[in-house]
Amino acid sequence: MKFLVTGGAGFIGGNFMHYMVNTYPEDEFVNLDKLTYAGNLETCKPIEDKPNYKFVKGDIADRDFIFQLFEKEHFDVVVNFAAESHVDRSIEDPEIFVKTNVMGTTTLLDACVKYGIKRYHQVSTDEVYGDLPLDRPDLFFTEETPIHTSSPYSSAKASADLFVLAYHRTYGLPVTISRCSNNYGPYHFPEKLIPLIISRALNDETIPVYGTGENVRDWLHVYDHCTAIDLIIRKGRDGEVYNVGGHNERTNLQVVKTVLHALNKPESLITFVADRKGHDLRYAMDPTKLETELGWKPKYTFDTGIPQTIQWYLDNKEWWENIISGEYQNYFQKMYVDK
Ligand code: NAD
Ligand code: DAU
Repeated sequence: MKFLVTGGAGFIGGNFMHYMVNTYPEDEFVNLDKLTYAGNLETCKPIEDKPNYKFVKGDIADRDFIFQLFEKEHFDVVVNFAAESHVDRSIEDPEIFVKTNVMGTTTLLDACVKYGIKRYHQVSTDEVYGDLPLDRPDLFFTEETPIHTSSPYSSAKASADLFVLAYHRTYGLPVTISRCSNNYGPYHFPEKLIPLIISRALNDETIPVYGTGENVRDWLHVYDHCTAIDLIIRKGRDGEVYNVGGHNERTNLQVVKTVLHALNKPESLITFVADRKGHDLRYAMDPTKLETELGWKPKYTFDTGIPQTIQWYLDNKEWWENIISGEYQNYFQKMYVDK
């Protein structure tokens, strides 16, 4: 089978490319990525010479380019990771989130309808369900939870999901959607909480915690997200949504303290800063459908995944030091210092 994987130079797409290229040597993989600030070809280095792997630079929202690519390559499967992914950036500048996350998705869907594919898989997020209250630990997101978004990012992702489902109903496109909770692991861009804590703590810099630090996220190691997507592509039912999560809820303050302790760094690095606008309180996934229907089981818990991730950042300093020494400095100044 020939796969088009979009956003494969980013965090999750990059980990997915590593997993798939190595696990399925008989399949072919084309990695299409625009190489925005979040895309990094260093992430693809370990697989770049594999015979079943090819990189193409391009924009999923560039209709002419996408149609030419589909005409030439005859894909069987499309997996769409490409997106603007950071909530804080979406609050500053929503427009690119509509262009990439919504119009990029509809461009891919149109190409799939025209050229035909066996599976279109949309990589979505638990954020489309909005948030849960902090005082109701009995509540979880299921696939039936109504869409109820908070940020420009999650609104664009939810909009894309609705188009994907509409293309199934209207044109009979064989689609699936995975909605996953917060990921962590190797190659995570250090604007996101966990790699931000690791990279700053290793440099003895302050760790900014939004608001009270009581907001809850449900953390999943990226490897387990990749195995879930692989399973859904191969065995999932057309037109279905699958929630992905491993029941690893932590408050942000718990996450920060866990990482600081593991690095032997003092809690005095923690600095409370202004809260994120519209900050979602709690995410918590119910992955029962994925577990019972497709037999998915995560390999990592938070307690085993965090030390593995920290070790990766210690062993791969060059990867993240290159990022934080460049344009990232201006980003940090604008988002954390000038505000
Ligand atoms: P990321 O920001 O690390 O990577 C995004 C990648 O997409 C980058 O390589 C970037 O260059 C590329 N890209 C951006 N715009 C593009 C365009 N117009 N055309 C082609 N490529 C483009 O993001 P991530 O954290 O790896 O997230 C990947 C996907 O998974 C996203 O769709 C995101 O919504 C979803 N998701 C993320 C999480 C998480 O915790 N990170 C959880 C659930 C779902
Ligand atoms: O839930 C899935 C989502 O997880 C994905 O769809 C998004 O693409 C991904 O970015 C992530 O979104 P979050 O907003 O939850 O992740 P982030 O790492 O930005 O923040 C995690 C929590 O930590 C959140 O409650 C905000 C808080 N935070 C974040 C940063 C960057 C801080 O307190 N300080 C920070 O500096």
